[in-house]
Amino acid sequence: MTEAVIELQDVSLTLGEGASSVHVLKNVSLAVNGGEATGIVGPSGSGKSTLLMVIAGLEKVDAGVVRIAGETLSGKTEDQVAAFRGRNIGIVFQSFHLIPNMTALENVAVPLELAGHRDPFAAASRELAAVGLSDRVTHYPGELSGGEQQRVAIARALAPDPRILIADEPTGNLDQATGRQIADLLFTKASERGMTLVLVTHDPSLAARCRRQIAMRSGRIEPALEVALSAGSR
Ligand SMILES: Nc1ncnc2c1ncn2[C@@H]1O[C@H](COP(=O)(O)OP(=O)(O)OP(=O)(O)O)[C@@H](O)[C@H]1O
Ligand SMILES: [Mg+2]
Repeated sequence: MTEAVIELQDVSLTLGEGASSVHVLKNVSLAVNGGEATGIVGPSGSGKSTLLMVIAGLEKVDAGVVRIAGETLSGKTEDQVAAFRGRNIGIVFQSFHLIPNMTALENVAVPLELAGHRDPFAAASRELAAVGLSDRVTHYPGELSGGEQQRVAIARALAPDPRILIADEPTGNLDQATGRQIADLLFTKASERGMTLVLVTHDPSLAARCRRQIAMRSGRIEPALEVALSAGSR
């Protein structure tokens, strides 16, 4: 039996205060096996991004258990969760989230340096080459196309060699052809390195490339719509 790398049991989360508070996740349970690609779909506001934030330990839950790579997040301090996330989870966002006054190389190398990596710039340079950006390392984000910026963000996410890669609408800001290349890159890298990929998308064809699809609606996972596709049909 494959070990579940992501395990959520009965997770509930309310965000906001008073009249603006929203019960965002309602008794969400989920187990994702190591190396599996999972696509999360669902209407706007259904809780998809929040679910990713919970998996990344960026949002603390009110109730339930979050166990990532065999470790329960709830008992950890914020610093411990941050260190855990740095080692185990790579994150890619729709809007890239690069630091504008750092070059592509620095965007990838600096987080490695902060994590105590021995040779962060050499490692960053290898990661940028692996996403096809060897000739853009000294460019600033503002000097890169959207697709190139997302490649830098992917290199940054992959650089610490995390077990889990989460991506929130990674192709949402890109044209169709570029989005397809970025999706190809994510799937290829995740599978080459045996990473567990969790991807939120509004694009049904992208979700269909995941071995497993999960549909969210109003803070819940819809069991009837959870589709486990046959092995190998990415
Ligand atoms: N800090 C907050 N305070 C109050 N409500 C919040 C907060 N953050 C998120 N929400 C609400 O939680 C719900 C789920 O938000 P979330 O961003 O997870 O949705 P989503 O499924 O990712 O939507 P989209 O497809 O538009 O990105 C939304 O209704 C949102 O308004
Ligand atoms: Mg979202």
